[in-house]
Amino acid sequence: MRVDGTMMRTIWPSGHGAVRIIDQTRLPHELVTVELKTLDDAAHAIKAMLVRGAPLIGAAAAYGVALALKANASDESLDHACRVLAATRPTAINLRWALDRARREIGRHMPVDRVPVAWRLAAAICDEDVAANRAIGRHGLALIRDRAREGEPVNILTHCNAGWLAAVDIGTATAPIYAAHDAGIPVHVWVDETRPRNQGASLTAWELGQHGVPHTVIVDNVGGHLMQHGLVDLVIVGSDRTTAQGDVANKIGTYLKALAAQDNDVPFYVALPSPTIDWHLADGVAEIPIEQRDPAEVTHIAGRLADGRVAAVRVTPEGSPAANYAFDVTPARLVTGLITERGICPASREGLHGLFPERREPHAGA
Ligand code: MRU
Repeated sequence: MRVDGTMMRTIWPSGHGAVRIIDQTRLPHELVTVELKTLDDAAHAIKAMLVRGAPLIGAAAAYGVALALKANASDESLDHACRVLAATRPTAINLRWALDRARREIGRHMPVDRVPVAWRLAAAICDEDVAANRAIGRHGLALIRDRAREGEPVNILTHCNAGWLAAVDIGTATAPIYAAHDAGIPVHVWVDETRPRNQGASLTAWELGQHGVPHTVIVDNVGGHLMQHGLVDLVIVGSDRTTAQGDVANKIGTYLKALAAQDNDVPFYVALPSPTIDWHLADGVAEIPIEQRDPAEVTHIAGRLADGRVAAVRVTPEGSPAANYAFDVTPARLVTGLITERGICPASREGLHGLFPERREPHAGA
């Protein structure tokens, strides 16, 4: 992604055994990078959401393991790092996917060899994410091109930030949007603000603006109205965990957009790289763990004051309890299709197996 004329990823090794990230809690008001030097730095960055978004927290966890092994490359240290990092956020499966891979691929080496292996693995996870998102962009571009009409932009609604900032580069839901924009297809994006943390208003709007993509920020409840009036051609969102039968966990409020889309015959697509698929789960509503975060994210809202300072203000009465469910599950029946790096498929076990035949379970007795 080009930011102020410079190509940037969201995470990169800074050259002396440390890792640099964009502190996303400071956007859109300030673009600040932060260095992570230890396992605890990495765990804090994920938990406090300096880095967030399913693919990016997987990449950050992989670098967290490398930082831990730099201090101590024993089996115990590898185990401890994986446990600490896995405990940071429960819903996005990419985190556990990266840690399982780290345990497997690093653990088979002798401690003395593990540090370079861990750094190479983290870099590979980042590069694979970028390649997957580029492929998602190529496949998703066709969906947008099909809806292009002479002289009119294709109106796409997205929720939360499944963009460049949620991944290592390009993003998942934004990949087809950037591909279409770069191909000269006029697009316009309706950006859900995404309370309580406002990832849409703060992050998606910022990165679309950096790339020059026309967009409009709306409050979370506008989508249904826009769809009733023919103002949304397509919904594309990301995913934190997609089950083997195609149920999709994503930022809280995604389910309501899917219901509105179905009621108005608006296609509802989910873009995801394959590490987001949890092949062990089927029923997303029953089985995907839903993160509950600090109620203070609901009772307070952060913004920039007229004097330039960034501050949080209370929006609820003192003493009113608040609940902060961070994700919800959209059942497969409401999803028009899944856009993956291997192509687009129906949100179903058969659809996913069509693209990932190696995941088909062998028939009994075979
Ligand atoms: O709580 P967040 O900001 O980590 O939630 C992010 C989302 O819900 C994204 O839509 C999802 O991770 C897909 S990212 C490509």
